[in-house]
Amino acid sequence: MKKRLVIGMSGATGSVYAIRMLEVLKDREEIETHLVISNSAAKTLHLETDYTFDYVTGLAGRVHDIHNVGGSIASGSFETIGMVVVPCSIKTLSGIANSFNVNLLIRAADVTLKERRTLALVVRETPFHKGHLRLMTRAADLGAIIIPPIPSFYKRPKTIDNILDQTVGRILDCFGIKVNTLNRWSEEDGERAMALLDNERKRKNPTVQS
Ligand SMILES: Cc1cc2nc3c(=O)[nH]c(=O)nc-3n(C[C@H](O)[C@H](O)[C@H](O)COP(=O)(O)O)c2cc1C
Repeated sequence: MKKRLVIGMSGATGSVYAIRMLEVLKDREEIETHLVISNSAAKTLHLETDYTFDYVTGLAGRVHDIHNVGGSIASGSFETIGMVVVPCSIKTLSGIANSFNVNLLIRAADVTLKERRTLALVVRETPFHKGHLRLMTRAADLGAIIIPPIPSFYKRPKTIDNILDQTVGRILDCFGIKVNTLNRWSEEDGERAMALLDNERKRKNPTVQS
């Protein structure tokens, strides 16, 4: 049986992360993506990208209507490897943290938690107030992985696509899905960092031995 991954898109900025993830997973025979998109996510997608709704839904294995709380992904007996909410708005985070299951996306996330499956929340807001932080703590206490789309620069990204691929790769790592678009920190990187540290130490104190 294929591994089913539920992908929820909510109305925070950053729909490109979900699109990149769907593009990466489209050619992975062993994975079946189940996509659910909030109304606000559809609006945000339109406002901040040139991608059409049809293009995005066309990338998914299955698309679920957000209003259909009886959809397959609403039941724990429907087996999945977990769910990612990308991007995750504060409103949707709040629904998940409080089990306020008003739509299929939030219900599916709640089911993922109750079944003790992996739930990754790519929470996007800035800055955060304490209420946002409390909601994240609450969701983390319930078992969710809070993985905001914070870029890393240690692999020297050159393009926005490099940054997207890095974040998407790290999110998919949460599910044990390995993609070759992720530029991983390597043994050589670690050795290079160590050599840099040694040089710095010697520069500050020429008597230090490495
Ligand atoms: C262009 C745009 C960007 C937005 N960015 C964010 C954001 O980064 N984080 C957030 O929590 N809400 C953001 N919002 C507001 C959400 O879309 C709004 O709270 C919405 O009700 C969320 O609904 P949903 O969680 O059901 O998708 C944004 C709205 C727009 C139009």
